[in-house]
Amino acid sequence: MRAAFIDRTGPPEVIRCGALPEPVIGPGQALVRVRACAVNPIDTYVRSGAVAMPLPSPFVVGCDLAGEVVAVADDVAGLRPGTRVWGSNQGLLGRQGTFSEWAAVDARWLVPTPDGVPDREAAAVALVGITAHLGLVTHAALRAGETLLVNGASGGVGSTVVQMAKILGARVIGTAGASAKRDLVRGLGADEVVDYRAADADARIRAAAPGGVDVWWETQREPDLARAVDLLAPGGRLVLMAGREARPLFPLGPFYVKGCRAVGFAMFNAASTVQYAAGLDIARWLAAGRLRAPIDRVLPLEATAEAHALQEAATIGRQGVLTGKIVIEP
Ligand SMILES: NC(=O)c1ccc[n+]([C@@H]2O[C@H](COP(=O)([O-])OP(=O)(O)OC[C@H]3O[C@@H](n4cnc5c(N)ncnc54)[C@H](OP(=O)(O)O)[C@@H]3O)[C@@H](O)[C@H]2O)c1
Repeated sequence: MRAAFIDRTGPPEVIRCGALPEPVIGPGQALVRVRACAVNPIDTYVRSGAVAMPLPSPFVVGCDLAGEVVAVADDVAGLRPGTRVWGSNQGLLGRQGTFSEWAAVDARWLVPTPDGVPDREAAAVALVGITAHLGLVTHAALRAGETLLVNGASGGVGSTVVQMAKILGARVIGTAGASAKRDLVRGLGADEVVDYRAADADARIRAAAPGGVDVWWETQREPDLARAVDLLAPGGRLVLMAGREARPLFPLGPFYVKGCRAVGFAMFNAASTVQYAAGLDIARWLAAGRLRAPIDRVLPLEATAEAHALQEAATIGRQGVLTGKIVIEP
């Protein structure tokens, strides 16, 4: 089968596209014909070695996939050949990745794709959708009527958080850069959109939420926590999920006096049962047209190295080069 894989960690150019043996399913697994997969920042950290994970050799890159089941192990119930599925969590913690024509995946990570939802849409929403759900529902316990701010609302995670927070009944403020990004965030349902580059960005946030925001979702790898806590309401929650190397100053005084809470999480540490429950909500919202994944571009498998370079320029370089996810169709 064709696959995008590495033999060693390094820059995007270490990714090769070539033939690998087709995977063989083991107990509890399904063989999926991959029709679409999506690039996430963590794909680039694993490929570069910045995030050390045990890697099979060769290692097929990528976490997300969507496609159809072509075979299942005898002990798998609920999936059968022909079932369309999507999922994430591959290419992590020693598991083989998804950027290939076929993938052997533990059935517990696979959620049925609703009729009418294209594979590219299901793949693009996978990791970011589960992340948004875990952060909003499990960790921030967002309630209808609350105000949530997403710092970085046009990104893969941010754009999904905006939509999901609206579905959950919150009022949403999003920050984004260029005007096309701000239009995107507005189109996703944000009530207020603030240009993060504007000198009066904080004044605009304060005008939109005079009592402070109930939840501050931070997507930046080098967050300004003093600013976030300042703009939080009393009792507000701070969601932190990016920046492994970050060691920002923590504004302890205002944080505890205001009775705030902070929660950090990495989606891949969540139990498959929790992620599956999130996946069912996501599938329902996709089917109802309430959730969508902005897609910047769709590329062939051979362009995986180029896709990694672009993702790095967007997430690490903060160059604003992407407006939506990169989808690869093997
Ligand atoms: N913990 C977890 O489970 C988990 C899961 C998924 C992702 N992550 C991490 O979360 C981070 C975001 O992921 P992603 O996929 O959303 O990345 P992304 O698609 O690259 O989005 C980055 C966002 O940052 C915005 N941005 C750039 N400069 C900014 C600034 N000065 N102030 C505010 N926003 C700014 C960009 O806005 P413009 O494009 O409008 O300039 C864009 O919306 C990454 O570090 C990723 O590794 C963690």
